Amino acid sequence: MTSEISKFYQRSMKERQEILLERVKGLSSEEIHLYQNYGGLGEALTDQLIENSIGTLEIPLGIAVNFTVNKRDLFIPMATEESSVVAAASHAAKLARPSGGFKATTTGSIMFSQIQLVGAADLHGAKMKILENKEEILELARKQDPTLDHLGGGPLDIEVRIFEHQHPMLIVHLIVDTLDAMGANAVNTMAESIAPFLESLTGGEVLLKIISNLADKRLARSRCTVKKEDLNGEQVVDAIITASKFASQDPYRAATHNKGIMNGISAVVLATGNDTRAVEAGAHAYASRLGHYSSLTTWEKSNDGDLVGTIELPMAVGIIGGATSIHPKAKTNVKIMGVTKAHQLAEIIASVGLAQNLTALKALATDGIQRGHMKLHAKNVAIMAGAGEEVVDFIADQLVKEGQVRVDRAKELVDQWK
Ligand code: MEV
Repeated sequence: MTSEISKFYQRSMKERQEILLERVKGLSSEEIHLYQNYGGLGEALTDQLIENSIGTLEIPLGIAVNFTVNKRDLFIPMATEESSVVAAASHAAKLARPSGGFKATTTGSIMFSQIQLVGAADLHGAKMKILENKEEILELARKQDPTLDHLGGGPLDIEVRIFEHQHPMLIVHLIVDTLDAMGANAVNTMAESIAPFLESLTGGEVLLKIISNLADKRLARSRCTVKKEDLNGEQVVDAIITASKFASQDPYRAATHNKGIMNGISAVVLATGNDTRAVEAGAHAYASRLGHYSSLTTWEKSNDGDLVGTIELPMAVGIIGGATSIHPKAKTNVKIMGVTKAHQLAEIIASVGLAQNLTALKALATDGIQRGHMKLHAKNVAIMAGAGEEVVDFIADQLVKEGQVRVDRAKELVDQWK
């Protein structure tokens, strides 16, 4: 079997599926047939969205309920394979409701690209030349995207950083307001367009021209308060705060703590057709900004003894451009949230991240995570063991009751049922 195939991208999807059937040992036509259900995306879009496409991969889409963000009640679509994520977000949103839900803001929709310039002997002189010509550089970049300019966005500023040691270089940041787009294409095109001018100004050579995913000029922030009575008293408030201090001090815990936050964030980012990897990269890099990897959230006690949570992280998401504008379900998901501006989506997503963290910390600091988690996980285990629709709930309940959420036990129960 060889995987070397020339012009695979020029074949039709059916042909690509047939090639797999021919070449992959043990693959059945029934298995290949599964790829022929193109779902809401449809055959043509499935083929067009990525190269070498053979089909779509279904991930469940759930709706988180109980959310109020900036005084607006919301249904929040979340695409995730992890069974407890949507329930956890909804639970926390309910806890935050009596205090008005989530208050969220952003720092705008400012992205930037980086241009790497090497070979200028006088780094400080070259930096000054670039800054002296800032207006001309911005004008060149602006011409690349007349629509953005027309709508009031576009290039805003230039920053120049000097790296003097090891490999001397200048890094130019082209800062752009991308409005309702995530903006990667816009800033990358602009960066490429100004490169020759930067070379002629400095005598250096431009190498990389690419967006930075550490989008720290596009931060989203959210805050919520949970009344101590809704957490069974101040003891739980204190336990949650102590749990959060673990994450703020220890990167091993912070990675898991932030993973839980990203369970919620990535699910909404994916549901809206946005770039999960861009948001994830930005989040984790931002979590390291103080010199060590730390938590993206804070948890404190108010003067009244209530629990106060905050989150702040880069949130490069858009509602126009990319898959968000093309994917029919992503479009509907944006509509379900009543979002008309990218910053509103960013505010919702940050709030979901905070909510997700609240439920995780509450569970970890009280009963432990497995109790709630296992109830939902048990269903998957029952399905894995071959339980049909008519018996899946019964077997899942039984597994939880016995405290044995394992496939081997589920198989025994399925056999007994049969
Ligand atoms: C599991 O997907 C996420 C948690 O591990 C998050 C956390 O530990 O804070 C429960």
